[in-house]
Amino acid sequence: MGGGVAEVMAKAGLATVVREIDAAAAERSRSGIERSLDRALERGKLDEAGHGAALDNLSFTTDLAELADCDLVVEAIVEDFGLKAEVFAELDRVVTSPEAILATNTSSIPIIDIAMRTGRPEQVVGLHFFNPAPVMKLVEVIPSVCTSPAVVERVTGFATDVIGKTVVAAKDRAGFVVNMLLVPYLLGAMRMLEAGHATAEDIDTGMKLGAAHPMGPLELSDLIGLDTMLLVGETLHAEYGEPSYAPPPLLKRMVAAGQLGRKAGRGFYDYG
Ligand code: CAA
Repeated sequence: MGGGVAEVMAKAGLATVVREIDAAAAERSRSGIERSLDRALERGKLDEAGHGAALDNLSFTTDLAELADCDLVVEAIVEDFGLKAEVFAELDRVVTSPEAILATNTSSIPIIDIAMRTGRPEQVVGLHFFNPAPVMKLVEVIPSVCTSPAVVERVTGFATDVIGKTVVAAKDRAGFVVNMLLVPYLLGAMRMLEAGHATAEDIDTGMKLGAAHPMGPLELSDLIGLDTMLLVGETLHAEYGEPSYAPPPLLKRMVAAGQLGRKAGRGFYDYG
């Protein structure tokens, strides 16, 4: 997801620093972005000059301190509050401009919990992209109770005018707008499969051809990542206590087995 967000920024003409956890992750990120830019070129979404310029706008590092001069930082690490808390505390130390916006792409963790790990919670905001970020037209903007109205206005203007997304605003409640509606649907499809109600292929075909969704719910869960689905379901369930948000045992077992979806080569489907 981080690579997709970086691609969006670089295509918009912005100097973009991608920080990854190690050199191998940085290389995977770079080649993933290149492949996606190649696809954009093939599909006529980008010309040769735009392709080259986007690549030139990107640099990769493993050192968070290289984000020191950034005006906007978008965190897109794994949905683990402890890790996000560490990253934001460190960002607070390294990012020099007091005007810089520190955004999180979290799907479900309260923005205020992340913001309070910094000494500048008024500069912290949720900026939630959808997978694949270069293709999906929406972002959610989520202020916490501490985010300054000027930051909300700047980040909304940026998302609309600079990177060309449509913005919806949401309160700082688990799931925001989209996941609050989407996640119970995806978990419901897993329960249906678990109960032997229908095959994975028939569930997905049903929703693609019967409801005109571009992907079926199990294919889409594989795209999102089953580890992410589990964490988001757990967070929504903890916040609202409703059974429809509770991750089904099948999802927990697949995650335990490392069957995390597309990125792992195996999820509800095989990608080998
Ligand atoms: N760069 C730019 N544009 C691209 C592209 C790329 N790398 N790849 C594809 N596109 C464009 C295509 O040109 C096409 O554009 P037009 O409609 O203008 O012609 C469009 O994207 C769709 O392309 P295809 O129909 O060829 O589809 P595809 O098979 O390559 O891509 C998909 C599939 C875009 C992923 C589509 O199946 C889809 O929309 N799936 C649903 C995705 C979804 O619901 N995402 C949300 C997940 S929820 C989430 O992320 C939130 C969370 O917190 C969990």
